[in-house]
Formats: sequence, C-alpha cells, structure tokens
Amino acid sequence: MATLTRLVAAAVLFTLVCAVDRNNFKTCQQSSFCRRHRAIKPGESPYVLLTDTLSITEEGVFGDILNEKSRVFFTLELYPLKDATLRIKINEKNPIKQRFEEPYALIGDGQTETFEVIDRSADELTVKFGSSRAVVKAKPLKVDIYNGDELVVSTNARGLLKFEHYRNKPEGDAHPNEGEEHGNAHPLEVEEDTNGLWEETFKSHTDSKPHGPASVGVDISFIKSKHVYGIPEHADSFSLKETISTEPYRLYNLDVFEYELDNPMALYGSVPVMVSHTPHQSTAVFWHNAAETWVDIKKLPDSNVVSSIAGFFSGGDSDPPQVSTHWFSESGIIDLFVMLGPRPMDVFRQYGALTGNYNLPPLFSLAYHQCRWNYNDEEDVRQVNENFDHHDLPMDVMWLDIEHTDGKRYFTWDHHKFSHPLEMTANLTARGRKLVTIVDPHIKRDSNYFFYKENHDRDLFVHTKDGGEFDGWCWPGSSSYLDLTNPEARDHYSDTYMLERYKGSTLDTFTWNDMNEPSVFNGPEITMQKDNIHPGLGVEHREIHNVYGLLFHQATYEGHLRRSEGRLRPFILTRAHYAGTQRSAAVWTGDNTAEWGHLRISEPMLLSLSVTGITHVGADIGGFFGNPDANLISRWYQAGAFQPFMRAHAHLDTKRREPWMFDTETLRIIRNALRQRYQYLPLWYTLFYENELTGAPPMRPIWVDFPEDEASFGIDYEHLIGSALLVRPVVDEGAVTASVYFPPGVWYDVLDLTIYSGPSTATVSAPRDKIPVYQRGGSIIPRKDRVRRASSLMRDDPYTLSVALDSDGKAQGTLYIDDEHTFDYRQGKFLYLALSYKNGVLTSKKIDPAGNYETGSWLERVIIVGLKKRPSKVTIQSASRGTRDLESFFESGSGAHASHLTIRKPGVSMSEEFTITIQ
Ligand code: NOJ
Repeated sequence: MATLTRLVAAAVLFTLVCAVDRNNFKTCQQSSFCRRHRAIKPGESPYVLLTDTLSITEEGVFGDILNEKSRVFFTLELYPLKDATLRIKINEKNPIKQRFEEPYALIGDGQTETFEVIDRSADELTVKFGSSRAVVKAKPLKVDIYNGDELVVSTNARGLLKFEHYRNKPEGDAHPNEGEEHGNAHPLEVEEDTNGLWEETFKSHTDSKPHGPASVGVDISFIKSKHVYGIPEHADSFSLKETISTEPYRLYNLDVFEYELDNPMALYGSVPVMVSHTPHQSTAVFWHNAAETWVDIKKLPDSNVVSSIAGFFSGGDSDPPQVSTHWFSESGIIDLFVMLGPRPMDVFRQYGALTGNYNLPPLFSLAYHQCRWNYNDEEDVRQVNENFDHHDLPMDVMWLDIEHTDGKRYFTWDHHKFSHPLEMTANLTARGRKLVTIVDPHIKRDSNYFFYKENHDRDLFVHTKDGGEFDGWCWPGSSSYLDLTNPEARDHYSDTYMLERYKGSTLDTFTWNDMNEPSVFNGPEITMQKDNIHPGLGVEHREIHNVYGLLFHQATYEGHLRRSEGRLRPFILTRAHYAGTQRSAAVWTGDNTAEWGHLRISEPMLLSLSVTGITHVGADIGGFFGNPDANLISRWYQAGAFQPFMRAHAHLDTKRREPWMFDTETLRIIRNALRQRYQYLPLWYTLFYENELTGAPPMRPIWVDFPEDEASFGIDYEHLIGSALLVRPVVDEGAVTASVYFPPGVWYDVLDLTIYSGPSTATVSAPRDKIPVYQRGGSIIPRKDRVRRASSLMRDDPYTLSVALDSDGKAQGTLYIDDEHTFDYRQGKFLYLALSYKNGVLTSKKIDPAGNYETGSWLERVIIVGLKKRPSKVTIQSASRGTRDLESFFESGSGAHASHLTIRKPGVSMSEEFTITIQ
C-alpha cells in the first residue's frame, strides 16, 4: 500500500512538473528591473566621478560618484590586480541598509598589482599596471581598459550605468517613485515605469520586495570584437547571439523541464563570465553578482536589424567594431573583474586565479557512468553490472536516483528494494566499479526522519519572510530547504557523509546533487520565493539565489573530504552551478530530450561551460526524456565518448535502454565508442591534471589553440581535446558524412590515418560506426589500448604512444600518472612527463623533477605516423636497461593515407626516462 501511495505521488508530481512550459518563466517584460534597464537610452548617463574626492593608496583608487539626477552618492573602487586583471567596484556611499556582496565564489580578492598614476586632470585619470592601463573619465563616468596601447574593454561607454539606491517605502498613496530619502533630502530619480518597484506579482506569486528597487547595471563593450562566448547556462549557440529582437540572455538558476533549444532562457546554472575573442586579443569579464541577472548583446556597427526595443539597442552604429553588452542584476553591487589575456590560455589562468580550478578528479569519474531513474532494486543493479561484463562493455560507475531512498529521505535506503546497500556496493567494487547516490537539498518534513529533525531542532532551514520554517513542495512532498548560508547547516550537512552517519555508504559511494537551483515545484518559476530569508547570513533569498547550488555541492565536497580524512578525492555531480563550481563539482546539462537537436546542442553548451572554468561537463547520453532510436543512441554514445563527462541517463517513464537492449550492430557501435573512451583515458587524465595547474579546459573550442584562425570562431559542432585531438561528432539524423573544418596544419584520422591539411573544410565519410576524430600532426597522445571492464583494473596496464608528425617531422605531448584516486599526488607521488620527437629521437623526460611515482605501467608500443621512409634500425636507451634494439614494423602510406611505424615492446617502465632512436 505504501509503495502504491509512493507511486501515485510520483505520478502526480511528474504530471505536475511535465506540464511546465515557458509560460511559467518570466520574460524581461515581466521582470520590472529588466524592463527598467532595457529602457535606458544610451548617451544620457547622469553618473559623474567627483575627481576631487579621489584617493590613491597602494591597493587601488577610490573616489565618489554622483548621480546628478537623484543627487545620490556612490563609491568607485579600482583595484589593479596581478596578471593583467582589473577589478571595478561601484557601491552606494551611504546606504540605508548594507548592500549584499557575494562571499562564496572567489578564492581570494586577487593580489594587488603595483601601479602608478601616469596622468591626472580634472576630468580624467590614467592608471598604469603591468602593461595595462585604465583610463577613468569623469563626466560621465567611463572606464576604458587598455592592453598596451589597444583599447580592449570600455565600461559605461554607452552610458547605461544604473544603480538603484535603497530607499524607504513610500507611505500610503504617495507616488511609487517617492520614498523617504536617506541623507540629504534629494529629489529621487524619476522612473517612468513604476510598475513593480515595491511589489511584483508573477502568476499566483507575489514578491513582497520589502527593500524596493535595488538593481544595478552597466554596459561593457569589447572593442574590435565580433564574437563573445560563455555566460552559461543556455541551450544556444557557442558564439553568443545578438539579443536585439529576442529576450536578453537570462542568468537565474531554474529547473526548466523540457527546455527549448536556441533561446536565451535561463537554465539550471548561471556563470556570469563572458569571454571575447579576436585574432589578437582574448578578454574575459566576470560580473560578480549572485542575484537574478540579464545580459543584452549588440554587435556594432554591423547590425542591420531594426530593434523594436529602444534603449540599449538604439544608436551606436558610428562606433568602432565591437560587441557591446549590457548587464543588469536585481540587487547587490557592481563588482566587475576584467581579465585582459591577451591569449586564451592567459584568460583561463587569470580567471582560475579568481575562482579556482577544477581539482584533478579521480580517474573513474572520467570513465563511463551508467545511470537511470531508476535502477529498481538491488537485483536490477546486480544484473546491469553483470550484463556490462557479459557484453564486454567497460563501465565504471552505477548510479541510483531518488527511488533508492526511503521515501525521498536522502541518506536513507528503501527498506525493501535496497536493504543490503553494503553488499550491493561490494558487488560493484569487486569488479573495480563505484556507486553514486543522489542527495538533494529539499528535506522531507517528517519529524521521524533524522536529518529533518536534526536540522529543524537546530533551526537550520530557510525561513519564509514572516520567520517560519519555509515549506516547499518537491519530490518528497512537503519539504524544508537547508539554509546553506549558515555555516552550521553546511557543517552538519557535510558531517552526514561520515560513514557512521550515512549508513550503508562506503568510501566508494559518491554523490549526485540535483534540484539545487533550488527546485521548488510550487514556488515562483519552480524555485524559491525571493523574499524568503536565509537566517545564516540574514539575507533574502534574492541576494544569493544563483549561489545556492554552489553552497550545496561545496558542502558535499567537504563531506567527502571529511569521511576519508582528506585522503581521497571526492567526486560530485551538480545540476545548479555558478562561478567557482569547478572547485568541487562536475556539471551536466540537465533534462535534455532524445532528439537530434538536443544531441547537437550538447556541443555548444559544453563548450560554453568549458571556457568559463567549468570543465568536467557532459550531457545525458541518449537524452533524458523520450526514447532514442538505435541511430540516435549510437551517435550520442559516440559524441559522449569524446566529451569530458560521459554518463547515460534516462527518465523514469522511458524504455530501458542499456546498450544490449538494442540490435547487435548498435551494441557493437556503442561498445566501440566505450572502448575509444577507455583508450584515451590517459589523455583525459593528463588534461585534467593540466586543468588543475593552469585552468586550461580539456574540451575546448578550436580558437584556444588556433587563436588567429578566424574561420573557427563561429563553429558549434566541433571541438578540440587538449591541443591534440579534433572531434566532429555526427549530430544529424541519418548522416553518413560530416563536414569537418580542419584548422591549419596536418591532421590524421585516428583510425585509418587519412591525412587532411588545414585550413580547409572537407566532407568526410562517417558511416554509423565512425566517429570523426583526428590527431594533430605535431602531437603525441598517450593511450591504454587494453580495455578492461573498469578503469581501475587498467591502472598498471601498459601505454601506447601515438606520435603524429607535423610537416617538420616533429611532435610533442605530455603524460601524467599517479595512483588515480588519492591526494598523494600533492605530496609528490606523481609522474609528469614531457614526450618529444624530433630528428628521429623520441624522449620521455620528467617535467617536474619533484614528482616521483613508481607505476606498474610500462611502454608497450609506439606508433609513429607520417614518417617519410622506412627506418633501418630502432633502439631504446634507459638508465636501468642500457641500450637495446627494438622490433618495428613499417607500413608505407598510400595516397591520402599516412605511413606508420609500429615499435613493439620498448618495455621500459613509465617511471623511467628513456630515449628511442629511429635511424
Ligand atoms: C531531475 C534531474 O535532472 C534528473 O536527472 C533526475 O533523474 C530527476 N531529477 C529525478 O531525480
């Protein structure tokens, strides 16, 4: 009976959620601050810098700004930071209430750079830091930022700065614009559009807005730019579109079921980071604000589209070529970081210094994950686990969705279906596999549920505006939500991962944080009321909405660290995300659909996340909703095999779709895709190590490695893995060819060694079983070709080095090796090797001599692609084994196919430096 009730409840909830369509989400017109900012006319900025108030200290430049219309004062702070980064802050000078400054995303304030004032007059100040300059113009306020002599970014160039100061609510029927002014009695800025200043209603929800209008916004222009990227999460193209005749891009973490493609609607995550790229200049900005945010984009002077919206879109066509963007948030302050590159890798490093890089994940998390809502019971898990072996399919992790719990009470197990979790897990780990269980932030309001009771008794939940514990509807029904701004709530939640508290979990149980936008089925826009209160910080939910998910998965990360006393690397997947998410979690793109369009959009969506620091990213393979046919599922596995996070997942109502549920040919195609994933794990692992060191994203757009190749700037369906592999997944129904753009240089098809010379576009043959993947001439890629049932069983397996020569007969690469799951690498237990081939000599040398790790892995094979002639002799030389001749086999190229030399069993341990000479 209880089960039946649960099923009925689930069905009711599902119907409720699936009925959601875009009408449940606000448009700009329905959001009063969005309307007010979009209506500002360029060129009429009332904000002036009072240059006589300027004070210059070692840290930065400080001065007052006056809004000449409202006569309200603001403060300007400029911090020149190390590594060509400038921070610009604008705040209210004497607010009646402190403005909120987001405290969780940054890992530090950024180190101050020494700077000098090189020019100062009554209406201008020039500050030089490193080889960059900031020129602050006083009337109207404008900050121009130069890299050398090049103007790169200009803020408030179009005069769209708007900072709504706090005011007291007008009494009675006074004009809604009028509030009791603070400080001197100045007339207020008069708004034409007064709707929603003090209260806003959307559908049946009224936001009480006790603090009134408090939004902030400004325009940011990227000079000489034609392409801007980033600001995930949107189901849209990689190069962002102009928003002249559409909604602005919205950044507000939302649970949007059955999301639509090619539009700027908000989705589960918000990373307010935009990267501009031109052949000579990469630049990024980080709009550090966690409240609801919108971004408009206009390209000048090319836009021929006549806008129906006044304000931002009017005028400007006489300006130099640029992408002009307009950012506005509902509350908080203006806190803008400008990173001046000038190369893409510089920008990644600069942004990583602010919000951190992804820590090297355990290797298994880069392998293949098998998920479904839901695996029904322990027997189901056992069978799926066995079937992977039976069908010779590698797999590392099985996932359990919400139904594994006792009535959606996280940290518990369904008494009947999952009554032996330890045995079940042992059955997985015996085959080298892991388990992931789901933990969401809505907590079932049931005083017999330990985790609810503990949090309730300590008052650790979010409150309503009236002070009671907030009660929202989610999977378990009536739920309370952890107040994650309260350190005690985070600490207590983290502690619940201790094995003695999370009974049935082990050190091989990892975590999936879902619904953490947070999703509230009966809340406005399926999320939390903005006027709810987080007692921890004493702020409204409005202020921290976009970091709620980050707080949750960071506390999960902390929990994983605690349970192993800091020894083992955590693995967490989160749906909601913000800037800084990369420090603790991988991200997937939520509830996509089994349609070709959704397979296609996975590419630009993952690229957008990658260039904004969130690098361990993937989309549900097969599509979450609906039933993929054999063709779609095989193409999706092929794409997923070459994207950073590889997980198949499916909705409760879909047909079972484990690979063996399809015909033999499809099963074979999926097996091949999985095998390729496992072969290239050493490459992925090395790239993730380098991602921790430098911020460089493993999955990246072509322009990261070919910054001057303008032909690639608008490409959506192709990416690089590191600088060595070019991937063009087939994403069109029935396609058996693909149009591939090859950047400059030589490229080799990884399977048949067909040679392509770039820059060029070629139509390649791509039958159902073919993934168009190319190795760059000039690269060396480490592989493990003996694929086993899980990556942990391949730890000591030997390596193959694939050496692809460029037109000068050279190649290079790197290889990183460690124990694949602990933090011992931070104590020097690792090998980081430089692999290089030139003049017929292949060498492996330590890059970091401090690293030392005794690996059981050895060198099994070297394949050299593109050698001009058959060598007469191959020898290897290493300290422990002296000089020996090696057996090799040469196959000369024919026409479009490259030659290759296979060197058999060099046999040297990967721990040892070596030289292989080809004569
Ligand atoms: C929503 C998630 O996006 C989906 O992946 C999951 O299966 C369901 N919640 C149920 O937990």
